[in-house]
This record gives sequence, C-alpha cells and structure tokens, in this order.
Amino acid sequence: MKQYRVGVVGVSRGSSYARIFSKDRRACITAVCDLEPKNLEKAAQAYGLSDQQLFTDYDAFIAQDLDIVVVGTPIPFHAKQVVKAIEAGKHVLSEVTAADSLEGCRLIYDAVKASKCKYMLAENYIFLDYIQQWKKYVDRGLLGRIHYAEAEYVHDIRHLLVDKGSGQTFWRTYRPPIHYCTHCLGPLLFLMGDDYIVKATASGNKNTIMPEFWPSTIDMQVALFETKQGRAIKILRSQVTPREPHIVTYSVYGTKGFIETGRTPGYDTVGLRYFEGIDSKTIPVNCNGTQLDAPAEAIGGGHGTSDYYVAQVFLDAIEQDKEPPVNVDRALELTIPGLIAQEAAVQGHVWLDVPRL
Ligand SMILES: NC(=O)c1ccc[n+]([C@@H]2O[C@H](COP(=O)([O-])OP(=O)(O)OC[C@H]3O[C@@H](n4cnc5c(N)ncnc54)[C@H](O)[C@@H]3O)[C@@H](O)[C@H]2O)c1
Repeated sequence: MKQYRVGVVGVSRGSSYARIFSKDRRACITAVCDLEPKNLEKAAQAYGLSDQQLFTDYDAFIAQDLDIVVVGTPIPFHAKQVVKAIEAGKHVLSEVTAADSLEGCRLIYDAVKASKCKYMLAENYIFLDYIQQWKKYVDRGLLGRIHYAEAEYVHDIRHLLVDKGSGQTFWRTYRPPIHYCTHCLGPLLFLMGDDYIVKATASGNKNTIMPEFWPSTIDMQVALFETKQGRAIKILRSQVTPREPHIVTYSVYGTKGFIETGRTPGYDTVGLRYFEGIDSKTIPVNCNGTQLDAPAEAIGGGHGTSDYYVAQVFLDAIEQDKEPPVNVDRALELTIPGLIAQEAAVQGHVWLDVPRL
C-alpha cells in the first residue's frame, strides 16, 4: 500500500488535517509551511518533524517530494498556492472557500483542468453524518422532489475581525459574511444532486453593531439563490451578530415532506421531520454530526466525524483515480454564488446571473 507524502501549508486550521493524515496508515506528514515560526515549532513537535521539514517559504516547500498539499492558509492565499501546488504535480486538498475572487476561481479552474492532479475543496459540513443520512432519504424518494432549502450560519467572530486592544486587523477583516457560504450551500446542493445555482440576490449592507470594517461587519446578510432546476435556496449569514455559541442549521422541503436540524448549538441536535405516507405527524429526529459507528480515529477528528471523512474520500479519490466528491467544478459552484450575492447586495438587492466556469 502506498503511503502518500503530505505537506500542509497554514498550520492553524490546517493542523486539523495534519493530525488526521498523521494518524492514517495511507499517509504521512513530511513537510509543513507557515509564516509563523512558533506554529512550525508546534507542528514539528506534534508530527516529529526535523528542521529540514519546516518551511516559511512556500516555493521551497512546494519543491519538496510531496504527493499531497493541504492548503490551510487564509482564503486570499488559496488561488496562488493551489495553482502552484497543482502545477508542481501535487494533489490538493484546499480549505474553504476556494478563492475570494472570480479571477482566483478562474486560475484554480484552469490549473486543475490542465492537470491530472486531484483537487478537492475540504467542505466538511457535507460530511456531517446527518447530512449523509438525509441524502439517503432523498435518494429513496422519502422527501419527494426538493423544491426549497435554507441554511443559517451565524457565528460571532468579532475577535477575528479586529483585535479590540491593539486595533490590529486580520485577513477576515474585509470578508463579507456571504462570501463564506460553502458550509451552507455545500450540504444543500449535495442533497439536490447535480443541480447548481444560476441566479443570486442578497440583502444586508449596513453595519450598525460594529460600525467599522465594512463589509465583514455587515449585521446580517440574507441571500436568495435560484438553481438551474428552479429550486430556491435561502442563506442567512452573520459574523458580528451576538449569539453565543454559534449556530449552523439546515431545513429542506420536498414535495413529500421536510426535514430540519434543531436550533440548539453544536453538531448533534434533535431536529424535526415529516415524510408524508410514512410519518403520521411531525416527529423528532436525531441529527448527529458524529457517525456513531465510525472508527476510533474518526472521533475527535473535528466537526463531528466530518473532517475525518473529508480526508478519507480525498485519499480514496487519489488511490482509485476518481473524481473527488467536491471537485473543482463543485468547489466553484459552492464559492462563486457567495461572491455574486455580495455584489447583488451592494447593488441594492438586484438579481444577478451566477457564472459557471
Ligand atoms: N472548514 C472549517 O470548518 C474551517 C474552520 C476554520 C477555518 N477554515 C478555513 O481554514 C483556512 C485558515 O483559517 P484559520 O482560521 O486557520 O486562519 P488563521 O489566520 O487562524 O491561520 C492561518 C495560518 O496560516 C498561516 N499563514 C498565513 N499566511 C500564510 C502564507 N502566505 N503562507 C503560509 N502560511 C500562512 C498563519 O501563520 C496561520 O498559522 C481558511 O481558508 C478558513 O476559511 C475552515
């Protein structure tokens, strides 16, 4: 069995995947790259790396003998780092979102399409166990045809937008909330199958809670999307609205019923469902982010067992030479609608076409 040599760039969130790959018999961590020496030291201790395996220079890192590069850096760096890795012949697992601009999306798309390397967007919420269960219900026809779905991701990250004491700003400081929409769109479009978004509009332009650093501080944004197959999707996003702890919810309506998560925080909630012809009334349903019969190493992988399964399906795709489930086409179908929705909000909630590359 081949053991894939994995390099991780950006070992803050990236360290979640470093940990998972380091415990996987199909992979080993052979290099890490980060601008912060103290983060490199931590990684060296965690994965038993020597000084020669630690890099602050991305070009030197990418020149190493690596099969896989995990891109765990801030979103503004994704496009350039993904393209360089793909062009250097590495498979890439990229953190969300794919890129922060249409131009960045195009660069990634062209590089991946010109290469034989695999690219996958690490959209982990698709791999929450209840989303995988819901997909089975959809495929068995229990919901009928989905005609509407909505998701809400309200996460107060004011401390990640600006440091209160020093006034220091960070990479998220100017990211509109709706740009970060893949945790919402990912699961919903997964449930809808081969559908994708063709039109977007959004409301939400004012920042009254934190009257600086627009647009990341927009109080709340609501985007409406229309899919190629005529379905409607609503997404609610905020990065500043007080709510402790944060919440991620999904609700899906079909011609035969509905299913939705609970509105309590966390990845394991009790939701509701009604499947016409099966349920006599709306009943509670467990929505577990954790797959209960998952292997021991999956538990504690992060975000229920979803981070673990992201790594698994990516390794499977490489090993079996097949398309990863969130390939470059899907990655951009999840990313571009958020970029266009922000444009629509700025223009005064007009409807805009969502391009597909
Ligand atoms: N899927 C999820 O659930 C989830 C959760 C959190 C973050 N993320 C994503 O992970 C990525 C990173 O987010 P984060 O919260 O870890 O950010 P962060 O700012 O906390 O950390 C980024 C890390 O990358 C390093 N870095 C910054 N620029 C770099 C560069 N040019 N080259 C090398 N290293 C660099 C920093 O030193 C730091 O260690 C983003 O894409 C974010 O959207 C995803």
